[in-house]
Amino acid sequence: MAAIAQQRPSTIARTAILASADVSFRQRLRDALTELRWQVREAAGGAETLACLDASPAEAVVVDSWLPDLEIQEFIAEFERMHPGVDLVLADASAPAGSSRSPRRNEVLYALRRAQSSDGAIWNSALRSIPSDFASVEASPVCAEEKPLACAVLPFSRVPDSSSLAPVASCSLPEFVGSHPALLEVSRRIRLVAPRATPVLVEGPTGSGKELVARALHRLSPRAARRFVALNCAAIPEALLEAELFGHTRGAFTGAVQGRTGRIEAAHGGTLFLDEIGEMPLGLQAKLLRFLETGELQRVGENEPVKVDVRIVAATHRPLGALAGKGEFRADLYYRLAVFFVRTPPLAGRTADIEALTLHFIEKMARESPAKSITPGAMAALTAYPWPGNVRELEHVLERAWILADDRPRIDTQEIEFYEPE
Ligand SMILES: Nc1ncnc2c1ncn2[C@@H]1O[C@H](COP(=O)(O)OP(=O)(O)OP(=O)(O)O)[C@@H](O)[C@H]1O
Ligand SMILES: [Mg+2]
Repeated sequence: MAAIAQQRPSTIARTAILASADVSFRQRLRDALTELRWQVREAAGGAETLACLDASPAEAVVVDSWLPDLEIQEFIAEFERMHPGVDLVLADASAPAGSSRSPRRNEVLYALRRAQSSDGAIWNSALRSIPSDFASVEASPVCAEEKPLACAVLPFSRVPDSSSLAPVASCSLPEFVGSHPALLEVSRRIRLVAPRATPVLVEGPTGSGKELVARALHRLSPRAARRFVALNCAAIPEALLEAELFGHTRGAFTGAVQGRTGRIEAAHGGTLFLDEIGEMPLGLQAKLLRFLETGELQRVGENEPVKVDVRIVAATHRPLGALAGKGEFRADLYYRLAVFFVRTPPLAGRTADIEALTLHFIEKMARESPAKSITPGAMAALTAYPWPGNVRELEHVLERAWILADDRPRIDTQEIEFYEPE
């Protein structure tokens, strides 16, 4: 333990993470930092950077102002919450107000300058925007023999004020339309847990966006480039579910004319979405638990275990904790899956969200046929309805209304037909 404690500072010192989707920029910056004896790790996006820091610490992080997965403000807010002691340098050489500064920040700024001078446009213009009245101008101690080159440390008054950034809790992920606090909490929780490998249990009523949550978790995770594999445990007959999950060899059971890779293996390196997990038979639950505990699975008809790395996201419309309490779901598996919860809220009563979703779906349909508007009366009917089928039901009611309105430019009350089960 003591050895690890002694090792940590020297491992962290002069370790930087370069976060940019631009491979050639990363390459130039890596070369410049390596010359200054820095250890460099690279990440293509925000989520990957946060996961990279989780896996092992760094002294500084240089981040591009555009990230493919997160808004830069969201990234900064997450970063400062999760890694307050790490020096964050934006690629325009500025730093968020109040962030930590490493004693070797000037080396990073010097490397940034080198990286931009060996290429051009974007980085040049970014660095040219550094004001001339630097708070301090120093030559990098490591590069004293180089042509004197100013390294800038911006005065605090000049750097972006992070208090003006939207707090994470108040911004939704782009796929989630609506601004109800319960929905914003969904986005917040996704952002927090996406970069990690932690299993997530998504609970919510039918049609409320559980699969949308699972896909967003994958999109924002470092696994985004690998596969997202979904398996609906309620849709596959019990007899076939095990082979579907774990795969099987040729001749493993009657009808198995060919061997087949299971869904777990197919998701290797990525995310496995187990939908309607509450419907999984108890016997199979024990096998899934064993896999979660060991990271190894056995294909049906084979003895050799196979190591597989997947992130599990499970979803249920039934309260899994209560089922576990009644012995209808394995309690040990429940605790394994429910390390982190996301709850998708029912649509009923979220008036502003019903309106926003309605406009969203109408706009979507207008991409394929001439645009239509909706009358206030029709909107009132929609907001007053209890939506037992939640967002999916709203989407279908609007699709039906669109068809019924035919070539009229407006959807009116008479086109709003709610589905009444017989
Ligand atoms: N907040 C939202 N904003 C925009 N679209 C949404 C939202 N929530 C759900 N949807 C859409 O509603 C539909 C149903 O969502 P989804 O399939 O994720 O629900 P679910 O909870 O998995 O449903 P089920 O329980 O029936 O499997 C999808 O088309 C999804 O894109
Ligand atoms: Mg679903």
